Amino acid sequence: MTKIITYGTFDMFHVGHLNLLERLSGMADEVIVGVSTDEFNAEKGKKVLIPFEQRAKIVKNIKFVNQVIPEESWGQKKDDVLNYGIDIFAIGEDWVGKFDFLKEFCEVKYLPRTQDISTTELKRSLKNFLSIPQQDLVKAFEVLDLLRRDLE
Ligand code: CTP
Repeated sequence: MTKIITYGTFDMFHVGHLNLLERLSGMADEVIVGVSTDEFNAEKGKKVLIPFEQRAKIVKNIKFVNQVIPEESWGQKKDDVLNYGIDIFAIGEDWVGKFDFLKEFCEVKYLPRTQDISTTELKRSLKNFLSIPQQDLVKAFEVLDLLRRDLE
């Protein structure tokens, strides 16, 4: 029975997150995910849109995930690996080399990221969308409405 663990914020859950979790489930019998708490994100200087309880609930209900635990500090990984009897620690390649210190306790793998999607990118798109002047949006919807009527 092999156990794998990963950690992340998983804010605005997207297909890059799903692909990673799917890959993990193909590598072990049990997948444990440490979801960063809001307090830990604040400590990291990361602003989240979706609160911890909701992020954790979404990840927990992904069919590739067996268990969710809160990630509350940088220092907990070694203890988690030992306490949960972890065989593999895996995380996206954006973290390459950062968790090599865990190699003393388990296998450490850095996995390729899904291209062209990230929470940062989604937040940027949302910000751009929200900065469109209201009258332009109204105009765009009027045009769409005319097109729709043309098609009817
Ligand atoms: N991940 C991935 N492919 C992506 C985005 C994320 O494989 N396109 C992985 C990360 O490498 C990490 C996990 O998903 O192992 C959780 O990443 P997280 O930081 O929560 O997501 P990001 O979309 O990378 O968020 P941000 O842009 O805020 O860093």
